[in-house]
Amino acid sequence: MNEVVGIIQMQKVRLTLNRRAVEAEIPPTTLLVDFIRGHEGLTGTHVGCDTAQCGACTVLADGEPVRSCSVLALQVQGRCITTIEGLAQGGQALHPVQEAFIETHGLQCGFCTPGMVMSCAALLARNPNPDERAIVAALEGNICRCTGYVNIVKAVQAAAARMPAARVDDPLDSRA
Ligand code: FES
Ligand code: FES
Repeated sequence: MNEVVGIIQMQKVRLTLNRRAVEAEIPPTTLLVDFIRGHEGLTGTHVGCDTAQCGACTVLADGEPVRSCSVLALQVQGRCITTIEGLAQGGQALHPVQEAFIETHGLQCGFCTPGMVMSCAALLARNPNPDERAIVAALEGNICRCTGYVNIVKAVQAAAARMPAARVDDPLDSRA
């Protein structure tokens, strides 16, 4: 049964977050990004514009990129959510996209990087060998104020070269 706190009726959300079952009572207006950062303490997902423009808050829902600042936590009820923290295997090995960003200098200040990496991982999961045009198209919702994007495109190409064919439904399984 839902709990009433003041005039807010709390609602139960159940989802899988980085392969961990999560259940919580939350106000129904809770944004997914606030649930991830505030309730679950996973602050790798960044908030830039807060208006679905910059892509810094991008996470994966069942392998597809979503802007977590524009989605309610209740809207992803029952789905598998992956954040930047979930890409690194047990907090140890980096995902090939993360390694490639480091090696090709695909970041400077790093603010856009979690969202960029998530969008790139999703791209390579559905298209293991994207050409430059496909990479640019996939990243058009992710804004970077530092790099000029050139090294980000190189990072995606480098990651593609080292990754085995990926499963569309689970980009985590695309680790080298
Ligand atoms: S913070 Fe979500 S798109 Fe900018
Ligand atoms: S590395 Fe600074 S915004 Fe992209």
